[in-house]
Amino acid sequence: MVPEPPPLPPGLAMDGETIDEAEESTHIASFEPLEKIRSSYDIVAERYANELADDMVARPIERGMFLAFSELVQKLGAGIVGEVGCGPAHIAKHLSTLGLRVVGIDISVAMIEQARKKFPEGELFVASMFELPVPTAAWLGAVSIYATLHCNAADRMRSFKEIHRVVRAGGYFLHSFYVSAPDQPEGSIYHLQKWFGFAVDLPTYFVGIEDGAAEMDRAGFDVMAALVREPMQSNELPTRRCYMLGKRR
Ligand SMILES: C[S@@+](CC[C@H](N)C(=O)[O-])C[C@H]1O[C@@H](n2cnc3c(N)ncnc32)[C@H](O)[C@@H]1O
Repeated sequence: MVPEPPPLPPGLAMDGETIDEAEESTHIASFEPLEKIRSSYDIVAERYANELADDMVARPIERGMFLAFSELVQKLGAGIVGEVGCGPAHIAKHLSTLGLRVVGIDISVAMIEQARKKFPEGELFVASMFELPVPTAAWLGAVSIYATLHCNAADRMRSFKEIHRVVRAGGYFLHSFYVSAPDQPEGSIYHLQKWFGFAVDLPTYFVGIEDGAAEMDRAGFDVMAALVREPMQSNELPTRRCYMLGKRR
């Protein structure tokens, strides 16, 4: 069976369904912003885990950044690394195959259920990136891969500050985000309302590379490297993406 493509920004839709049709399928109640994100990911978790997750660790460019992160962290000695917004934990699992001990955290209960299937030996918890259940300076590093897509600038900073709290000085932080897309310039917002045929409620933020670097710096991380990549596969959202690596001051 050919997997359904992910939802696309305006002007790029491939499946022809309208927002109205999507809204009939599953109704998202009007929750607080974090509840909307949690509910939306609860709804798509199984499809996301089965149809999108493993593609990411199959890509050599992403794997290169994960390898760089893991080699840098391993030089710090033994310890724990956190994946914040881990989804089905395919990245946490991949990092564990590179020799890291990884804790995965996600706000969506259904995503953590998927993560437990994909990475049964993993240490996986339901929690918010704004309030990590982790002691100060307990981690050697953290990754946040497309987990802040639905955060405005203030919420990205809240999340970065919390990651700064739990990562020890000299540790590393790998953050990835959407930069732009056709019809979606840097700094714009796309309101994702349909995904895998389900109604969702996900404002999706596009962040310029310089802005992303300035935010990371303001949160207390020295930016070491940024990898920008263009859309690569027909089943992924056609966005320009950035993987930015920082070192905690
Ligand atoms: C686009 S998915 C990315 C999942 C995975 N990191 C990946 O790259 O495939 C975003 C994930 O972030 C989680 N998330 C969003 N906001 C969160 C928050 N405030 N705290 C923890 N997790 C959050 C969602 O539940 C979802 O699993």
